[in-house]
Amino acid sequence: MQFEVFTLLPEAFFSYIDTSILKRAQERGLIKINIHNIRDYTYDKHHVTDDTPYGGGGGMVMKPEPVFEAVEKVLDINPLQISGKPDSEIPIILLTPQGRVFNQKIAKELSQYPRIALICGRYEGIDERIRENLVTDEISIGDYVLTGGELPALLLIDAVSRLLPNVLGDPTGAEDDSHAMGLLEYPHYTRPPEFRGNKVPDVLLSGDHAKIDKWRREQALERTFRKRPDMLEKAELSKDDLKFLENLKERGKKKD
Ligand code: ADE
Repeated sequence: MQFEVFTLLPEAFFSYIDTSILKRAQERGLIKINIHNIRDYTYDKHHVTDDTPYGGGGGMVMKPEPVFEAVEKVLDINPLQISGKPDSEIPIILLTPQGRVFNQKIAKELSQYPRIALICGRYEGIDERIRENLVTDEISIGDYVLTGGELPALLLIDAVSRLLPNVLGDPTGAEDDSHAMGLLEYPHYTRPPEFRGNKVPDVLLSGDHAKIDKWRREQALERTFRKRPDMLEKAELSKDDLKFLENLKERGKKKD
């Protein structure tokens, strides 16, 4: 999978993408992350990428020309094709607080593409024509405002990459994650079996895998019930799951 990232701050990316799992995934040719400096697509003496907003008001706005130029060159889109939206099979995603809110389902959806483009906004905003005539999708990472789209782009690259085959060391690594199965993940323990008087639950030391699976499922259900009950409405639940949740609710009522 190939990520084409368009940014005014290329240096913001390297410390993260050149470490750990993303580094290894790139070395093994499983992902490619190309960082493009939008400033390289300006043709004036001072390489200007922003300007004051029409109509007045504070702040600066990202100019359309360098962003269009960069994306069209890299994705090999013919500018003459552009009327409304570009004729591109590659999603051209703008990171913006106005986008659809990123989640595991969107990460999965994006992981199916061989190539995606990510445009990182900066300054106070971007010229609206970028949004209207270049971008095919808008993604937000949550209801708060950052100084730019670089962190959101990194976050998206990370969440998508770890879903790709062989990126994680453990081939089932992404399957049990919180959110992957619509529930929060069960708790994990490693050695020692007792730490400062706190013991690892006996069932995990029992070697009985059916029991361990049942315990993990119930822990995931209970955690989700207590911390993120909204997620239970969309989760796929078996009859046993529903019975377990009913019991939890009953126990809760008795305590009240
Ligand atoms: N740029 C600034 N804030 C953002 C957010 N919350 N999500 C995506 N891009 C952004």
